[in-house]
Amino acid sequence: MRIFLLFFVCFILGGPTECGKIVADLEKTNITVKWFTSFENQAVEFSIWYGFPTPAVIFIGFSDHGDVNNTDGILFYPKYEKVEDVWIDRNYHLQSDWSQDINVLRVTRSHFVFRRKLVTCDPKDYAFQAGTTEFLVAANWKSERVGNMQSNDWKWDKKFDLVVEKQESRTIQEETIGEEVDSKVVLVNSNSKEPLPGVETTYKCIIRRMPFSTQKRKFHIIRMEPFVAKGNEHLVHHMEVFLCRDEVEEWNGDCNDPQKPKKSSTCSHVIAAWAMGEGPIVYPSEAGLPFGGNGQDEYVMVEIHYNNVEKLTGVMDNSGFQFTVTENLRKYDAAIMELGLIYSDANSIPPGQKAFPISGYCPSQCTRFLPEGGINIFGSQLHAHLTGRKLWTSHYRNGVKIGEINRDDHYSPHWQHLQEIKPYINVQPGDVLTTTCVYDTRKRDKMTLGGYGIADEMCVNYIYYYPASNVEVCKSAISNTTLRQYFRQRYQETNPSTPISQLYANVDWTPSRAEELFNLYSVGNLKMDCLQSHGDRFPFISDDKRQSWNNMAKPRFHSNPTVETRDPYECPAMNDLVNFD
Ligand SMILES: *[C@@H]1O[C@H](CO)[C@@H](O)[C@H](O)[C@H]1NC(C)=O
Ligand SMILES: *[C@@H]1O[C@H](CO)[C@@H](O)[C@H](O)[C@H]1NC(C)=O
Ligand SMILES: *[C@@H]1O[C@H](CO)[C@@H](O)[C@H](O)[C@H]1NC(C)=O
Repeated sequence: MRIFLLFFVCFILGGPTECGKIVADLEKTNITVKWFTSFENQAVEFSIWYGFPTPAVIFIGFSDHGDVNNTDGILFYPKYEKVEDVWIDRNYHLQSDWSQDINVLRVTRSHFVFRRKLVTCDPKDYAFQAGTTEFLVAANWKSERVGNMQSNDWKWDKKFDLVVEKQESRTIQEETIGEEVDSKVVLVNSNSKEPLPGVETTYKCIIRRMPFSTQKRKFHIIRMEPFVAKGNEHLVHHMEVFLCRDEVEEWNGDCNDPQKPKKSSTCSHVIAAWAMGEGPIVYPSEAGLPFGGNGQDEYVMVEIHYNNVEKLTGVMDNSGFQFTVTENLRKYDAAIMELGLIYSDANSIPPGQKAFPISGYCPSQCTRFLPEGGINIFGSQLHAHLTGRKLWTSHYRNGVKIGEINRDDHYSPHWQHLQEIKPYINVQPGDVLTTTCVYDTRKRDKMTLGGYGIADEMCVNYIYYYPASNVEVCKSAISNTTLRQYFRQRYQETNPSTPISQLYANVDWTPSRAEELFNLYSVGNLKMDCLQSHGDRFPFISDDKRQSWNNMAKPRFHSNPTVETRDPYECPAMNDLVNFD
């Protein structure tokens, strides 16, 4: 009864875009499509009324272009009361969606009612957005065995209407102002008497104990900046700073030196990353990066990447990193969290792609471990390697995109800029963050694999925030199960021990195969790294016993139904006709 009431209210109040109705004339009978659009639920409820004689199959399609091919739709079999989420491919053949996004609410002898989210982010679903929606309504009285939509058994009609009116929303947290405090400056740099080697790439590691007692007291780092030796500005490419979990020996030398102290492997907690062209990292006045007070001496490791293009010899260098430290603790502990894709060959990019997107998810199953009241993000650093072109992180609440956390549509791997976020963005437990990277592999002739090497790819957003939480990494990859199942079905690759990189290498990446992989990445299950600061996974909490961190359903979310906020790379739809040629 509810839907009648809604229609009644709609038509009385005359909200033209919230409710609507079209009547399709199919020779034998008319089919009426009525809908009610709920922004609260980000969904449309459709009721489809069909007369007699009852068709064997009904197709309701949605598109921007009005062609029968490349159209999203649903099929309904009145006899079996069955609804299927389908699409029509470029050759007019019906295909079942990998992701079924239809909810059937009611079926009677005269009509049926189903609900669909406005936007599902399935590349084979139409996104209902502001603007004209083209309805394709068809019925087939002759046969239930449908496949080719060009068959004369189908009777067609086309209608136009508006399903969605423009809406916008955004939540922003105001920043608070504090005051300055007493502080001291600590310089961690090399005291090496050896010149830099005359080779192009050198990674130098400097491990130092903090030059004051940190066993009992906790401190805050409130500012960090590089110290680059005069005259060597062109050589110092980037630096990373790590806090060590254990007490280590002081040391400096080549990072790959086998004599580097064993315990330096515990120096893995990133507290700063800096690159050429970048200014200092200044903490907001109400927050600082904590260290000390753990009953042990604190050690930091600075890793410097030298890029000595001219292979100069005899260059002395004492560059390093400088911290401003205070014992007048600020109100909040700050921290860094890593979002994006797991460094894994499961996330890989086919060769010859102009713009191939992959998204990494931080789902509510992981953000539930954020502190009550959420976190405030004040800085963000996007990171990809050589083929990364566009990078950004989107922020979803209750399934709806409410904003973005940093975006660079013109990313350069040669400038790892730390972007100040103002006003701060508040992320609540249960929110979802997705980090998307769009890659250009037109110059590559092999699969570009996810991984650590400079020729591999990454997709990371380091977010700087307070108050600190125990969530240090929240990244995803497509699940191995999904990927191997796909390769089994599509390419008959049945050996479970064939490395994923080899599975990819065996494929001849035609445009339609690349598009298929993109579709798989868009709807497939995830493997999650939801990691605590000591590197362990958080527990996976769910009522659904089939799910786990290694194989969990992608978060279901929906953009706002406006063109401006749905990015077709991040949340694809059939309207986009993304070009994989
Ligand atoms: C279908 O609707 C049209 C008007 O929209 C009407 O003229 C026609 O008689 C209807 N056909 C049937 C079979 O009800
Ligand atoms: C449908 O197919 C025709 C003929 O092959 C083609 O010209 C047209 O662009 C296609 N439409 C869409 C939306 O792809
Ligand atoms: C999945 O595949 C990745 C990449 O090939 C591999 O490193 C990882 O161990 C596999 N994970 C599981 C749970 O099988």
